[in-house]
Amino acid sequence: MMAMMNESTESKTPYGTYYFPEGFLWGTATAAHQVEGRNPNNTWTAWEQEEGRIVNGHKSGLACDWWGGRWREDFDRAQATHQNAHRLSIAWSRIQPAPDRWDEDALDRYREMLRGLRSRKMTPMVTLHHFSEPLWVAEMGGWENEAVVDLFAAFVHKSVEALQPYCDLWVTINEPDVFVVSAYVEGVFPPGKQDLKTAMLVMRHMIKAHARAYHVIHELQPEAQVGAALHYRGFKPATFLPVDHWAAKVFHTLFNDLFPRTLKDGVFNAVMKKDRIPEAIGTQDFLGINYYANDTVRFDLLAPKEMFVHRGYPKDTLLSENGFIANQPEGMAESVRWGSQFGVPMIITENGVEDSEDELRPRYTLEHLHALWRVINGNYPVRGYFHWSLVDNFEWERGWTQRFGLWGLNVDTQARIRRPSVDMYADVCKTNGISSEVVRKYAPEAMDKLFPKN
Ligand code: FCB
Repeated sequence: MMAMMNESTESKTPYGTYYFPEGFLWGTATAAHQVEGRNPNNTWTAWEQEEGRIVNGHKSGLACDWWGGRWREDFDRAQATHQNAHRLSIAWSRIQPAPDRWDEDALDRYREMLRGLRSRKMTPMVTLHHFSEPLWVAEMGGWENEAVVDLFAAFVHKSVEALQPYCDLWVTINEPDVFVVSAYVEGVFPPGKQDLKTAMLVMRHMIKAHARAYHVIHELQPEAQVGAALHYRGFKPATFLPVDHWAAKVFHTLFNDLFPRTLKDGVFNAVMKKDRIPEAIGTQDFLGINYYANDTVRFDLLAPKEMFVHRGYPKDTLLSENGFIANQPEGMAESVRWGSQFGVPMIITENGVEDSEDELRPRYTLEHLHALWRVINGNYPVRGYFHWSLVDNFEWERGWTQRFGLWGLNVDTQARIRRPSVDMYADVCKTNGISSEVVRKYAPEAMDKLFPKN
C-alpha cells in the first residue's frame, strides 16, 4: 500500500504515498443544531436563552443557515473538494414538534438534503440523536424517564421510513458518553444536572433506546448498517500513585467501555454495580469512533464535581488555539485497537481541531490520518474517516469561540472562508491517501515524522 522511493539519491528526501483501502469513505461530519439555525422547539435553543449557559452569551442564531438552504453551497464545496461522504444529523424537534404531530415539511427538507448528497455522489450517514431533543420530551423528564425509549423508537421509525430510500448508514446516538457526562455530571448541557446516579440511569435508557432503534431500523431496512458514535479518550494516570491508576481505570470503564460493552455482552458494568441489559446484545453493525485527544488523570479528593479527578494534557503537548484539544495522534491508533474488541468494523465518525488560523489543523489532521493508516495496515477494519467539521459551526456551551471548520464562517455575513486545510483535505480525499507532497506543502513540520529520511 505504500509506494516510496528516493527523489534523488543526493537529497535522500523520500517521497511516496500512504494509500488507504479502496472504497474508503472520506467526508466531514456536522450536527443539526450546530449548522441549521432557527431551531425553535429544541432543548438547546431554550438553553441558549438562559443566562450564563453559553460562553459570552453566544447564540446559535442562523448557525450556518442550512435550514435556509445553504447546505446546497456547502455540499457543493464538499463535492468539489473530492469528499465522497457526509455525516449529518436530523433534528427530532423539527420532525416531531409536538407529541401528536409529525412535520412532513421537515421530513421533505431532509429528503432533499439526502438527495442532494446522492446527486453529488456522496454517501450519506445520518445521526438520529446528536445532543438535542424536542422541548416536549424534556418536559416529560427527558432521558431520565424510561418512556423516552418508546418515544425515541417512534421517532426513529417515522424518520427512517421516510429517509431510507436515500440512506442506509445510521448512527443512532452521538457520543452517549459525552452527553451523559456533560448534561448530568458536569451540568454544562441541558438539563444541567450534577448527579452521578441520574447519569447512570440516563446511560441505561440510552442503551435501551439504541437497542430499540437498531431493531426498528433493521425491520424497515434489512440491509442497513447501524451503529452508535462513541467519543473515545485514552485516560493516562498522571503519576505512579495507585489512586491515579485506579481513577484512569474507572474513567475508562465508565466513559469508553460502558456503552459498547453492553451492546456486545449485555453486561452493564457501572463499576460499583453490575446489571444486565440483554436486549442490547448484538445491536451494532459498526462502531463509530470520535477521537480528539487523550487525557491525563489525577485523583483529587477536593474535586467532587469532577468525580474526584482532574483531567488535563501533559505539559509538553501541542495544544489547540483555546487549549481544548491536544495533538496526540498516537491516541487515534489506540482508539482503533480498543474498538476492535467489539468485533465489528469501525468508522472514524469525528476527528478534528479548533483552530481559526489554521495553524495546527493541517499537521493535526495529517498526523492523525497517518496514525490511522498504520493501524489499518495492521489489519484493523476501518471503513471511513469523517473530519469535524465542514464549516465552522455552533460549538455548544462554547458558542462561537471554537472554530472546527475546514472552511471558516463569518457568522454575521454567512461568508465562507477557504482555509488552507480545505485543499490539504481535498488532496487526501482525491488521492485516497497521504502523499509526501501534501505533507511537505501543508505541514512541513510533520515531514520528518511521516516521511523520515533514510
Ligand atoms: C464532539 C461533538 C461535536 C462537536 C465536536 C467538536 O464531542 O460530537 O458535536 O462539538 O465534539
